[in-house]
Amino acid sequence: MKHKLLFLILVFLILYVEADDDGFVKTRGVQLMVNETPYYANGFNAYWLMYIASDPSQRNKVSSTFQEAANHGLNIARTWAFSDGGYKPLQCSPGSYNEEMFQGLDFVMGEARKYGVKVILSLVNNYESFGGKKQYVEWAKSEGQSLDSEDDFFTNAVVKGYYKNHIKTVLTRHNNFSGVAYKDDPTIMAWELMNEIICSSDHSGNSVQVWITEMASYLKSIDGNHLLEAGLEGFYGLSKTESNPNFQVGTDFIANNQISNIDFATLHSYPDQWLSSSGYEDQLSFLSDWLNEHIQDAQNILHKPLLFAEFGISTKNLGNDSSTLRDKFFNTVYSAVYSSASGGGTAVGGLFWQLLAQGMDSFRDDYEVILAESPSTSTLISQESRKLKRIRKMYARLHKH
Ligand SMILES: *[C@@H]1O[C@H](CO)[C@@H](O)[C@H](O)[C@H]1NC(C)=O
Ligand SMILES: *[C@@H]1O[C@H](CO)[C@@H](O)[C@H](O)[C@H]1NC(C)=O
Repeated sequence: MKHKLLFLILVFLILYVEADDDGFVKTRGVQLMVNETPYYANGFNAYWLMYIASDPSQRNKVSSTFQEAANHGLNIARTWAFSDGGYKPLQCSPGSYNEEMFQGLDFVMGEARKYGVKVILSLVNNYESFGGKKQYVEWAKSEGQSLDSEDDFFTNAVVKGYYKNHIKTVLTRHNNFSGVAYKDDPTIMAWELMNEIICSSDHSGNSVQVWITEMASYLKSIDGNHLLEAGLEGFYGLSKTESNPNFQVGTDFIANNQISNIDFATLHSYPDQWLSSSGYEDQLSFLSDWLNEHIQDAQNILHKPLLFAEFGISTKNLGNDSSTLRDKFFNTVYSAVYSSASGGGTAVGGLFWQLLAQGMDSFRDDYEVILAESPSTSTLISQESRKLKRIRKMYARLHKH
């Protein structure tokens, strides 16, 4: 009798004690782990968090975003830890930083932690918005370097020095609210070297391969706590071009992700842009193949976790049915994640592009999701969160036995 009671209490504890998320995310084989339990990342992109939070009167938008996200079970956000030159810079010029912006990012990290959301921080942009590789190259030119392409970002020693200094500055920053150094903050799930690495001037992929190797090793020399991913969209190199949409960007999903300091692979999915002259059904079928091929390759060749770090579809040209069609698109990604994850596979989560708070109309890009305005999409998102959470609980139980 006594044993029976103890047994029931044990079962109760095992079923109802939530897996603890308050640790660093690590990898084990093709899985992400937190505190010895597999970790699944259902999340969102919100590049604007630091930008908005740098203005204390706007910070409620950041808080409400994390609160609503957490209400839908979302547990990961991907955002920019860069704004180079231009309007509202974080880095005003090489090595010179704007404290207001940094405190904005500090606030974002504090709110994320408060709502149990982990964060992926990207360290520079491929594109011109918020400065990007172009701004770095211009800075070096104004210091007398003779450069003629923004792709010199990947090879010029002075530019590489600027970028390494940015890595070091962000990683060693002490959060002004918590006092914790970024490199020691478990709220950060991973660093990302660059948002959507592209080096069109070198289709061999060598420039990018060498750059990732060097920067990954530099970052890891400062921070041994956090995971690192490169920021790739998933395009294949010259050995497998037939799997790409019909263009090359100088990256190689296989070789780049085989670099030992890269902990997990990432994939972006924008068939509406990549196959813009195809119809919705063809784009959806491309999406399915794109997801599955990368899952297979991460599983069989890379032996590393795979995160669907960006996916989205513009509702602009979807007509009256836009919310149904978008849901079907999201569901294709969510099903691929769940079906892989539930079998112990390599897909560890997905982050849609992009989440906005209410009252941010100027940030709308036709890809935005505002949870309160999109009931069917919100339901889908919550369902995926619950399904992934169930897998996690199942593993947590197995582990405890
Ligand atoms: C926050 O920054 C101010 C200066 O801007 C500094 O005096 C203070 O010690 C910092 N607080 C923490 C917790 O780092
Ligand atoms: C779309 O909505 C508009 C206005 O509500 C309506 O006039 C039109 O017939 C609808 N088109 C389709 C294909 O349902």
